[in-house]
Amino acid sequence: CRTVYYNFDITNTTVAPDGIERIGYLVNGQMPGPKIEANWGDTIVVTVNNKLQDNGTSIHFHGIRQLNNSEFDGVPSITQCPIAPGESFTYSFTASHYGTSWYHSHYAIQAWMGVYGPMVIHGPTARNYDVDTGVLMLQDWSHDTVDSRYEIAESVLVGGPQTMDNGLINGMNTWGVDGTANQTGKRYELPTQFEPGKTYLLSLVNSAIQSTYKFYIDNHTMTVISSDFTPIEPYETNILNINIGQRYMVLVKANQTPGNYWLRADNQNACAATKQATDIKGILRYSGSGDKTATPTTTGYNYTTECIDEPAASLCPVNALSAGHDDEDFTYDVLVGNNGKNVFKWYLSGTTFYSNYSDPTLLSLLNNNGNLPTSSGNLILDLPKMGEWVYIIIESVIPLPHPIHLHGHDFFVLGSGKGSYSPGSSPLNINNPPRRDTVLMPGAGYVVIGFETDNPGAWLMHCHIGWHTSMGFALQLAEGKSMIGDTVKDYCGLQGTCDAWDKWAAAR
Ligand code: C2O
Repeated sequence: CRTVYYNFDITNTTVAPDGIERIGYLVNGQMPGPKIEANWGDTIVVTVNNKLQDNGTSIHFHGIRQLNNSEFDGVPSITQCPIAPGESFTYSFTASHYGTSWYHSHYAIQAWMGVYGPMVIHGPTARNYDVDTGVLMLQDWSHDTVDSRYEIAESVLVGGPQTMDNGLINGMNTWGVDGTANQTGKRYELPTQFEPGKTYLLSLVNSAIQSTYKFYIDNHTMTVISSDFTPIEPYETNILNINIGQRYMVLVKANQTPGNYWLRADNQNACAATKQATDIKGILRYSGSGDKTATPTTTGYNYTTECIDEPAASLCPVNALSAGHDDEDFTYDVLVGNNGKNVFKWYLSGTTFYSNYSDPTLLSLLNNNGNLPTSSGNLILDLPKMGEWVYIIIESVIPLPHPIHLHGHDFFVLGSGKGSYSPGSSPLNINNPPRRDTVLMPGAGYVVIGFETDNPGAWLMHCHIGWHTSMGFALQLAEGKSMIGDTVKDYCGLQGTCDAWDKWAAAR
């Protein structure tokens, strides 16, 4: 195994991914940021230099377990203080999984100001494809900044997310009506043209702030081979449901008449109370003769808008594992609600998550001999012992679904459904259920996730809709609190971040 190094400068600049200019915070001036690429087992070292004038920052490596490495999970207020302007912080972690994911700022909603990028870890996946076409990052986009929209989001009583304007693939799209003179921007085209008979690997990431997509390529079928970081038994589908924070790797056979085809990510309006944003369209071209500048004329598959995950029955991990449970273990029931007040907040079991930037939970645990912080007012699930099975039931009567993401673990998706979970009538699937790090809680329904405590640290569980994390839809896990001290390698670095942050915040 090697060590791979990256140096990220976070700067405040302007971007125009669809031809319309806007302020963006970018990694090394790119959107998406540079690709992190490593082999399974490598050490990845990322130095982040905060060159913003008026914002903290951090980078979270979404889906990486950070085993015994909580201090590098990159979550301000949980695992570190924000990196102050002018300061740097170096993350170091093992590429514990293989597959595709992304990294993003975990400071407020900064990820959707542009601080994000793809992460690819090569592993022993059988090379049952001919060409890797790379990562497709699917996201929504607004023409004013998400920071300016956040204030509106907080004041909307019904909690309807803001309507976004456009959608992007790898930071590109057009804006305006096709073929008209005032259309701006450029369509994304797959960098690889399909040669008939060959098989292509596509890696999909939903990096949107609020949009759930159905992804498909006109006329083509996909074979799905992994969900999040978990290799699965391959299955075929025409349309793939991809929720915020989720990833899928798919194989596509070039078996259609050579020509030009739309590849699409359609925004699912059923996921929100309001119209979401324009659907995303990119272009797949076959090699050989034919017009390489023509716009495709193909039509999409039919479906009804809906807000679902890929069916659990389809997502069978190749490495089959069963979830454990016994009476000694912990079951937590987390009820999700919202206050509908002037400032909109989400509640989980009665408490709202507030960021406490200058007193991160991890540091607080270290400084207080593993005692939970008392002052934070935040809900913290205390999981003191290792090797115990934790079941978390997350449920809500609110009609809209939410993508739930957990740090520090791949969890087992034990069940989900409409209505409220009841142990007798909603049987759980413990026998090789899907394992992933982001799952949809159905609207007016529940999801049950399970995992074994094996990773001392402070971890966040939250809704990955950008606004919702910031509006308090999050809770923390304090796992193996008395063991955390043994796993932290760089207490001084962690403390140093807080000194620099406190100094900057005080001088502000
Ligand atoms: Cu994609 Cu809390 O993270």
